[in-house]
Amino acid sequence: MTEKIINLKNEAIGNILEAKEEKELERLRILYLGRSGKVNQLTKELPNLSNEEKKETGRLLNETKKTIEEVLRQAQDKLTKGKEEKEWIDVTAPGIPPKIGHLHLLTQAIREISEVFEKIGFVRVRYPEVEWEWYAFEGLNMPATHPARDDFESFFIDAKPDPKLGKMCLTPHTSNGQLREMERVKPPIRMINIARCHRPNWDIIHTPTFHQFEGLIVDKGINITHLKGVTDYFALNFFGPGRKTRLRPFHFQFTEPSFEVDINCPLCLGKGCRTCKSGWVELGGAGMVHPIVLKNGGVDPEEYSGFAFGWGVERTYIMKSGLNLGDIRPLYESDLRFINQF
Ligand code: DAH
Repeated sequence: MTEKIINLKNEAIGNILEAKEEKELERLRILYLGRSGKVNQLTKELPNLSNEEKKETGRLLNETKKTIEEVLRQAQDKLTKGKEEKEWIDVTAPGIPPKIGHLHLLTQAIREISEVFEKIGFVRVRYPEVEWEWYAFEGLNMPATHPARDDFESFFIDAKPDPKLGKMCLTPHTSNGQLREMERVKPPIRMINIARCHRPNWDIIHTPTFHQFEGLIVDKGINITHLKGVTDYFALNFFGPGRKTRLRPFHFQFTEPSFEVDINCPLCLGKGCRTCKSGWVELGGAGMVHPIVLKNGGVDPEEYSGFAFGWGVERTYIMKSGLNLGDIRPLYESDLRFINQF
């Protein structure tokens, strides 16, 4: 009897280890452990044995049953794991694409604007955003007492003023770049200064931080037709076919004469429609550099003349893309639902 049991155990283990499919394992489980399986058949023979033998053989049978159960369980695990492993190394399975970001709308705008100007020889420069009053105001012919200065409310820095250059402030516009550039290089000058500006305003079309791009050309014989040529070039190359500018008389302290530059409406191209009314929309300021500003930059106004323009990056870009952003504040918030649209 003992021999029979041991043979049964070996046979069962051998068969189980050879099984390659779950179906086969199930068949073997029934064959050995099922109600009328081989183990139970041997159990039925127990009553024929002496008491002494019964005890010993019973224990052996029980052990054999447990061993077969355990081997079956392991074989079952191996088959399932094998399946998982196969799936894990399936190199044809599609990967998980990594999330790829993109440049912020404003960075895209700045790059596009720079490219348009660089094509006609403007050099992109950047100057400090924490600036002396001299470069931001006085040197641009805007003394502190002048009412025009009220339009340029500024953030001042809590630092010791310089006896000549005045207080420190955050650049309220990019026009400081005019004086800085004239100090850096002698004419001919062709610069485009794109930078962050700061003014204490916060409403749907004003954020305390915003961007401007400032153009400056200084050379011999520069006149208004050059200014008009450059603004028209920009309108065409940045905004597209059919777009052009017009100069409307205005006043700025640092230019004489001064203009507001308008661009023809994208819908009616200047005829006048329900959206624009007059046919034109305002782009930003420009003018012929004031002789005092040239002098302050160390340039002789008898020998040289120049023109300058300074426009808002956000405003200009929104006008181009037809984004119709009623509120520009989301440009400075980090809501990905907004940012990812661009
Ligand atoms: N700095 C002016 C502003 O922030 C814009 C401006 C007007 C710049 C006329 C210029 C200019 O260079 O010629 O409102």
